[in-house]
Amino acid sequence: MKTISKRDQKTSRQRDCRNKDFGYPVRQSSEHRSCRRGFLGFLAGFAGISLVLNQLEKFNFFRNTFKAQSVSVSKQVVRVEEIEKVGYCLFRFPTEHDPAILVKLTDGDFRAFSQQCTHLLCPVVYQPEKARLFCACHKGSFRVTDGSVIAGSPRKPLPRFLVEVVDGWVYVKEELEMS
Ligand code: FES
Repeated sequence: MKTISKRDQKTSRQRDCRNKDFGYPVRQSSEHRSCRRGFLGFLAGFAGISLVLNQLEKFNFFRNTFKAQSVSVSKQVVRVEEIEKVGYCLFRFPTEHDPAILVKLTDGDFRAFSQQCTHLLCPVVYQPEKARLFCACHKGSFRVTDGSVIAGSPRKPLPRFLVEVVDGWVYVKEELEMS
């Protein structure tokens, strides 16, 4: 009778354990294979989506579809002869929550600004003798011709609005970015 050596037994066991398809000592379950297939599918899908997004970006699809719309807001503020009497007019613009000021300069031009100081939002007042808009909270002052800072704590100029006179009425305008 032929005896099998211990070494032959071990080799035979190893051969049995090997996966016939891949030659690995551990069998691959079908679950493992389907998992790998799923991952490859995911990669292919991701690559496809990236390609489509890239093409859309190339044709400015996103910029054209989602670009910010600008809207012009206009308000009739006061009659010219009325503001000539006092030199300025307080109103609300661009919304009813935003205080604004319209001033008539000595040369006859009009300027309109937000009435909120850019430091801590205190109201500014018109001082024609100093050609400035003054904030009493921390002594901030702004040039009345363009709203730039002259002195004090503010670092930013006053927001300025466009002014138009039509048929004896003063209108203010602003372009708003709508997203
Ligand atoms: S709030 Fe106007 S200067 Fe401070």
